[in-house]
Amino acid sequence: MHLFLADPDSIPFLADELRRSAPESTQREITDIGILSDAKLEGLHLAFARQTLPDALETTAVSINAWADRIIDAIAGHFPDEQPWRLHLWPQYGEGRAGVNRCELIRASLVERLKKRRRHLLRSLVKEGPSPNLSPKPIGGDNQAWGGERDQRSQQGEPSRHARQHPSPRRESPTEATINFGERLGEGHPNDAPFTPETSLVQCFLTSPESGWLSASLAPQPHSLRDLISPFLRGEVPWAEDKSAPSRAFTKLVESEQRLGRFIDRDQTCVDLGASPGSWSYVAIQRGAHVIAVDRSELREDLMRNPRLRFETADAFKYKPPQTVDWLVCDVIAAPQRSIDLLLEWLREKRMRNFIVTIKFKGHDEYELLETLKRDAPSLCAEFRLKRLSANKNEVCAFGVAK
Ligand SMILES: C[S@@+](CC[C@H](N)C(=O)[O-])C[C@H]1O[C@@H](n2cnc3c(N)ncnc32)[C@H](O)[C@@H]1O
Repeated sequence: MHLFLADPDSIPFLADELRRSAPESTQREITDIGILSDAKLEGLHLAFARQTLPDALETTAVSINAWADRIIDAIAGHFPDEQPWRLHLWPQYGEGRAGVNRCELIRASLVERLKKRRRHLLRSLVKEGPSPNLSPKPIGGDNQAWGGERDQRSQQGEPSRHARQHPSPRRESPTEATINFGERLGEGHPNDAPFTPETSLVQCFLTSPESGWLSASLAPQPHSLRDLISPFLRGEVPWAEDKSAPSRAFTKLVESEQRLGRFIDRDQTCVDLGASPGSWSYVAIQRGAHVIAVDRSELREDLMRNPRLRFETADAFKYKPPQTVDWLVCDVIAAPQRSIDLLLEWLREKRMRNFIVTIKFKGHDEYELLETLKRDAPSLCAEFRLKRLSANKNEVCAFGVAK
């Protein structure tokens, strides 16, 4: 059985989505955590699942060392020697740092045991300094960041000095790292880098000191199921922050890029449909791209004057680019079917190479419209993702790479 994690408020929508996308499957809700199901994973897209633990086993262990042994038992003789593997280990109980400390001790015990008995496995464990998104998310409990400093990497473009990356949920903490969204998070950072076909993944979370769930996903599964299995711990991407952006909407664009592991780049061309007040265009400009911004309302004044931006007063649904562009980004407020049709039309007409499109909902009755997209988009894409992002409200983002 596979365990699909979801925000507690999304679990009923995930249950409906599973019933629609995998009607033959059985499902059992795990309160506040997600859904356990035997759905076939290949070809499955679940917008409301943040993370997937394939073949998850409910596990008990009486001590820290016993937890370390459980993890070793799950991988020894299973994960190939000398191939990279990652460990996602987190607490999902209690308040304060108790669970965090326990997980840190389990990790330390695991490393010690591997040193003694399985050096080859220790060598191939991807060195993951705790990342800012390791904040524990105890059910109904406190949230404190559990993490260390992230690398400060060289900045591309003309990034704002105010951009920051927060753990999710957003809360200040002394260990929080300051990161500019202009950095290429997800590129090269071992914590969040996209899976390669060689990467295996162990996920283990504790629901109490002595109980939890364990899943070992052998390469190439994490890579081949990358719309279901996230390289981000718990499938949660830290929130970006930039006080200079025209609105907070830019966090959706940045999160989509991070999840995709692709980033709008210098000198690329980008069409931004429904662009006003301009925070998606702002990100693209910061990265050095050339933007055609389409809206009925103008963007913030400084963006309108920016030489990298051309504004077109037009109907987003009628606009056609003069030639194929590197990126379609679209955050238009429209009925969900219109945004879905727009994306499919752009894909069929090969108008863009990469895309990030928000599909907005009113209420909860229309999520089944996403099934059209799941059915029709993958064959038009080299890469297709569909997610309710950490930064999304009642929206889902479709993003990917066109064929
Ligand atoms: C949520 S806002 C976009 C926010 C933008 N992504 C940002 O980060 O600043 C949606 C925009 O879609 C525009 N819009 C809605 N329908 C449109 C249409 N048919 N054609 C062009 N723009 C449209 C609205 O004017 C509005 O500015």
